[in-house]
Amino acid sequence: NRRVRTRDLLAAKERGEKWPMLTSYDQYTAGIFDAAGIPVLLVGDSAANNVYGYESTVQVSEAELLPLVRAVVRSTRRSLIVGDLPFGSYEEGPAQALRTAVRFMKEGGCHAVKLEGGARMAPQVEAITGAGIPVMAHVGFTPQREHAIGGYRVQGRGDTAEAVVEDARAVADAGAFAVVLEMVPGEVAKRITHELTIPTIGIGGGPDTDAQVLVWQDMAGLRTGKTPRFVKRYAELAAALTEATQAFSDEVRSGAFPAQEHTF
Ligand code: KIV
Ligand code: NA
Repeated sequence: NRRVRTRDLLAAKERGEKWPMLTSYDQYTAGIFDAAGIPVLLVGDSAANNVYGYESTVQVSEAELLPLVRAVVRSTRRSLIVGDLPFGSYEEGPAQALRTAVRFMKEGGCHAVKLEGGARMAPQVEAITGAGIPVMAHVGFTPQREHAIGGYRVQGRGDTAEAVVEDARAVADAGAFAVVLEMVPGEVAKRITHELTIPTIGIGGGPDTDAQVLVWQDMAGLRTGKTPRFVKRYAELAAALTEATQAFSDEVRSGAFPAQEHTF
């Protein structure tokens, strides 16, 4: 009944066991995912889009993410909690990255941090892991670079495959305990997964990565409208909540709620 550790994830890879990961940003989802046995929860900078209503992850701050990290940590007992370092909090160099990572561990209470980038961010990964803080890296499509990349695009097709493989290798060599592979061709993700001893976590990386992650609102169908091809919806929460809201609204307007049983 203890917390999952990074070494448990390495052991799972050695045994060939796949595992699920979800984002979480609040008490109730964190508690449900923890009780359901999701070994790793990410308080993603995707809170920008999925909590705060920003257009891009680029806009969310440390001050906005840290309270969510604390809420998720407080609401879980088993899951390993990863705090996602926001855009602007680690790019300047290893010293800035370490300072932010320490802040997330101390003020957020999380058990690991995540940052985006491959070979370019290896010095940051090395500085943070050197201080005893586990780092999850993130290569392939990296949303914080959306404007430089030119939109949400698959990375590592054709000739560019080697660059993605090298990015994954660089962060593993720098000491990352796991690496997210976002929107890379399945064959490239498979190759990286076989080459690295650390777990790979796919999101739009096909079936051969060691783990799979989804944003929880995508997984549970709370976000509707156009969703990426890699999303599968396991529930229709938006429809359920719309129906409940409509029923409540109708009953208040008609006087059916509250009834005698709800009245002191
Ligand atoms: O912020 C996030 O949700 C992520 C995952 C989807 C990997 O970085
Ligand atoms: Na993220």
